[in-house]
Amino acid sequence: MQVMVTGGAGYIGSAVNQALLKAGHSVLVYDNLSSGHRAAVPPGIPFVKAELADRNTLVSSMKQHKIEAVIHMAAHCLVGESMSDPGKYYDNNVIAGIALLDCMRDCGIECIVFSSTAAVYGEPAKQPIEESDPLVPLNPYGETKLAFETALRWYSLAYGIRYTALRYFNAAGASSEFGEWHRPETHLIPLVLQTAAGNREIVEIFGNDYPTRDGTCLRDYIHVMDLASAHVLALEALNSGSIRNFAFNLGCGGDGYTVSEVVDVARKITGRNIPTKVSPKRSGDPAVLVASSSKIRKELGWKPKYQDLSEIIGSAWEWFQAHPNGYDN
Ligand code: UFG
Repeated sequence: MQVMVTGGAGYIGSAVNQALLKAGHSVLVYDNLSSGHRAAVPPGIPFVKAELADRNTLVSSMKQHKIEAVIHMAAHCLVGESMSDPGKYYDNNVIAGIALLDCMRDCGIECIVFSSTAAVYGEPAKQPIEESDPLVPLNPYGETKLAFETALRWYSLAYGIRYTALRYFNAAGASSEFGEWHRPETHLIPLVLQTAAGNREIVEIFGNDYPTRDGTCLRDYIHVMDLASAHVLALEALNSGSIRNFAFNLGCGGDGYTVSEVVDVARKITGRNIPTKVSPKRSGDPAVLVASSSKIRKELGWKPKYQDLSEIIGSAWEWFQAHPNGYDN
């Protein structure tokens, strides 16, 4: 298929592009480079640098490249920032997203795979989290992702658009070519590895009195290439009509890992001393987020290849050592 990947110059987008190409699809990356990197898109892939809200460029790109399906990943995605600047999240994640849906409708494009998030569940009453659990986001980031999921339902009813919302848990790791590089960096694993490399002095552990086995927050880390393979399965299933209008959780499941356990695994992988200090809790952080991924395993036959955190962190460390300046020159 000819697939438009919005946000395809980002960390997860770069992995999704690789998985799509490997499966024989063609890719058009559409990204405004507000947080993505031009170098994360291989030279042979057509690239449009434009805003998601720019309807004229969206329509002309869709027509010119005969786009048949969209993977929609372009979004702002920082929980903390969304708490202090909610309008930015509504503008991009909802209002600009609606422009994309309108343009899809106008161009007769019927399939969309949407990057959603575990943040739609808020502070869940039980673990692991299932797709049917209550959707009560704790922050504008989760709220705006949920708003777009809901918009998909109404666009589907009105115009026959078929969609899948993939609710990511914590993406981590790297392929040999592409990895995680944010400016500023706020995610735990890259911060831990930058500290291991000596680029930062200390890892701050945000809170140590959560109701978890060691008091630090617990998360479900999923390798970015496993996340990427799920997009291809979802896209192909939507296209063939074997699924329609689903939300799927995407995590490894199991027991998850606490912040302290992540640091310990990173110490073993890197062989470096990684100093830590306990800092105040971060606003909007739930104590525990672990996915039940049984629905996507059953419906799409998805299975993660990397379930061991050492392998996931090991791949991120390899990429970081090969690219000490990330995508910066
Ligand atoms: N953490 C620290 N110190 C740091 C950075 C993070 O202790 O310097 C902690 C956080 O408090 C959290 C855990 O490490 O408990 C993971 O934090 P990340 O910032 O790496 O990831 P989040 O869990 O906050 O968020 C990520 C994505 C979201 C997505 C969420 C779903 O960034 O988009 O996973 O689980 F919604």
